[in-house]
Amino acid sequence: EKGTYDYFMMKEIDEQPFVMRKIIQQYQDESNNIKVEQVVRDEMAKADRIYIIAAGTSYNAGLVGKQIIENVAGIPVEVHIASEFSYNMPLLSEKPLFIFISQSGETADSRSVLVKTQAMGHPSITVTNVPGSTLSREADYTLPLYAGPEIAVASTKAYTAQIAVLTILAVDTAKAKGKTLTFDPLQELAIVANAMETLTDKKDVFEQMALDLFKDTRNAFYIGRGVDYYVVQEASLKLKEISYIQAEGFAGGELKHGTIALIEEGTPVIAIATQENVNLSIRGNVQEVAARGANTCTVSMEGLEKDEDRVVLPHVHPLLTPLVSVVPMQLLAYYAAVQRGCDVDKPRNLAKSVTVE
Ligand code: M6R
Repeated sequence: EKGTYDYFMMKEIDEQPFVMRKIIQQYQDESNNIKVEQVVRDEMAKADRIYIIAAGTSYNAGLVGKQIIENVAGIPVEVHIASEFSYNMPLLSEKPLFIFISQSGETADSRSVLVKTQAMGHPSITVTNVPGSTLSREADYTLPLYAGPEIAVASTKAYTAQIAVLTILAVDTAKAKGKTLTFDPLQELAIVANAMETLTDKKDVFEQMALDLFKDTRNAFYIGRGVDYYVVQEASLKLKEISYIQAEGFAGGELKHGTIALIEEGTPVIAIATQENVNLSIRGNVQEVAARGANTCTVSMEGLEKDEDRVVLPHVHPLLTPLVSVVPMQLLAYYAAVQRGCDVDKPRNLAKSVTVE
């Protein structure tokens, strides 16, 4: 039930800190160690390459998952759009492992890939919010998200839950492979949960910001580098899907190769800057668009902030910043949609799960 909320989407945005805590609890044993089935651990340790298959927001979570798994577990990861992979399969490695990410577990494009890779004899794991769903039943193993039902068509808490579960899986694999770890994921996810809360507690700031950025605009751009580039792809999908503003997420460095031609007086450009190694260069990109009249908004993180930043996120582990930086993006999209009188939970032309290819 929606309770006092106007829309499920806001309720689900607000639930994210609780979902983080629930995941920590579910994936931890009595001695506070990570709890993942031994068979899943073995499959991960055996794989020479992981293929993440998903659609929409789950695909965007997969991009972040790739960054985390490669960094932490040291296994190469490819992320593929299910509908593309299904009919244009790339050359596979010798020991591939398929991870299907799907909130609903019912996405036909992903299932089509599962059917084909299973026929080829490859192992599969489904990361889903609905144990018992088609993808969960048909894959070899399931990692549940524990996010509770997601009703709004626009996915929010499933995205952050997917990243959290992939983080836990990555760390578990790293341990199984005898790697020395520099962080405790359960502790870091608890810090993330608190950071999310400080943002959802400041909704009026984002409501005002949405008005300033999107009131009279037909389009909007998001930019980022590294893992922030992955988050801006999710940010733009969210805005498009519920507010119908044409939006795109770009790699900051690509702007000068074409996209910057689209910048006019007042064009909103939202930048995410949470990564130290690209902090200077993304800020350079913001200056380039500001000099051409863009209405810029930089979202940075404590420790990397500058005076002009409109949002400074609480500090979290650098690999986990997407879990926090996405929250302002969800809130901005929500308010842009409300301010335009859109039906936030049921955007036009869309269904919650896409069960046709
Ligand atoms: O249930 P799934 O995660 O497989 O769904 C995939 C996409 O259809 C879904 O993420 C879609 O892009 C959302 N409406 C985005 O908010």
